[in-house]
Amino acid sequence: MTDALEENVPNILIVDDTPANALLLARMLTLRGYHARAVHSGALALQAARLEPPDLFLLDIKMPEMDGYELCELLKADPLLEEIPVIFVSVLNETVDKVQGFRVGGVDFVTKPFQLEEVYARVEAHLRIRSLQRRLLEQQMKLQEFNGRLEERVEEEICKSRDKDLLVMRQEKLASLGQLAAGVAHEINNPIGYISSNLSVLAEYFEQIVEYDRICQESGFGGLAPSIRESITKSRNSLRVEELLEDGVALIRESLVGAGRVTKIVRDLKNFSRADAVESEAVALTSCMDIALTIAHNELKYITTIRKEYESGEEILCHPGQLSQLFLNLLVNAGQSLSALKMGEIVLRSWHDDRCVFASVSDNGCGISEEVRERIFDPFFTTKDVGKGTGLGLSIAYDIISRHKGEIMVESVVDGGSTFTVKLPRIREAV
Ligand SMILES: Nc1ncnc2c1ncn2[C@@H]1O[C@H](COP(=O)(O)OP(=O)(O)OP(=O)(O)O)[C@@H](O)[C@H]1O
Ligand SMILES: [Mg+2]
Repeated sequence: MTDALEENVPNILIVDDTPANALLLARMLTLRGYHARAVHSGALALQAARLEPPDLFLLDIKMPEMDGYELCELLKADPLLEEIPVIFVSVLNETVDKVQGFRVGGVDFVTKPFQLEEVYARVEAHLRIRSLQRRLLEQQMKLQEFNGRLEERVEEEICKSRDKDLLVMRQEKLASLGQLAAGVAHEINNPIGYISSNLSVLAEYFEQIVEYDRICQESGFGGLAPSIRESITKSRNSLRVEELLEDGVALIRESLVGAGRVTKIVRDLKNFSRADAVESEAVALTSCMDIALTIAHNELKYITTIRKEYESGEEILCHPGQLSQLFLNLLVNAGQSLSALKMGEIVLRSWHDDRCVFASVSDNGCGISEEVRERIFDPFFTTKDVGKGTGLGLSIAYDIISRHKGEIMVESVVDGGSTFTVKLPRIREAV
């Protein structure tokens, strides 16, 4: 039985067809503290080496059937044995082709009759080289493994810091949009308040004036002299009083409708500015789409028609400001995808099934190629010109949807258009 210490003792395989020589060499090496095995043919050497690979071969050159060179070639062709050093044993007076020995993979030569110290020196030198090679290889493997782990760590850290940056940018973008929206809403809120209320009062006044004019006309100004009656009618006609009164009423009504729209925009902006609200609310996805539409409408109205096909007004528990931001990002992208060559069309849809609410934004724009589609949700990925896109819109959208435990999907045909569909879980009844 070999004990643990013996396992570290170098193992040498001697191949010599003259048993006396092989035995002598084996004894010399054993006395020196090595494990030495001897075999008498190339075929046996191959078998023994494959069974228990040695640390070094000592090969006689001249052997019947398979000489030392041939055997060495076979050893070097075997992946299990190719790294093991081979020292050739030659007879002193024989002419030996040393170049041939090195060419087939040998590392050194010793000569018979053996000079003890020379054999030891050569064997030890090559065993040492071999052991250094092994340690080098082990260290190289450890280094590679360490490098691999280091690369993974660096990658992880980069991802973490990118995620952090993205979150900060997203929050900053939301916050700055929110502040802007809140500021604008605040500035407009007051004046639109009194404009609306003044217009309502003016509408009442006008109705009274119209009524007064009607009474005057019906009275026929009976008590007045005919010349005065005539002059009143003439002035009334030349000043187009009837027309003015009619137009005045219509203008005030129109202005009231306009003021109503401004009031709605202000309300939407206020909602939008609450994008970071911590509390979730039960809100219909369609109202988030409408808020986004109100904000984007100004940019889109000249380049596209917008159609709403809402089949579901289901409410879901969500952060309405964030979802409005998401739809705004989709709408802006849809608008930017449209070509100047054909009339743009954007369609907003909503529907639901038992478990989820869906909403989609479709355009008939440039579409997205397969290659680009794989990367559109990556932060900072953009195909737009410098200054036009930061490549954050869809990554923010993705982030918002993930926070809502939903999914965002895209279907697209190059030059045919794209549809982005959002899927969110419905509110579950409390059990
Ligand atoms: N509706 C769409 N039609 C065609 N391509 C689209 C559409 N939506 C997104 N893309 C593609 O996906 C890319 C990433 O979109 P994303 O909104 O993230 O960034 P962006 O629009 O380039 O910049 P940002 O939104 O930050 O201003 C776009 O550059 C574009 O190539
Ligand atoms: Mg975008």
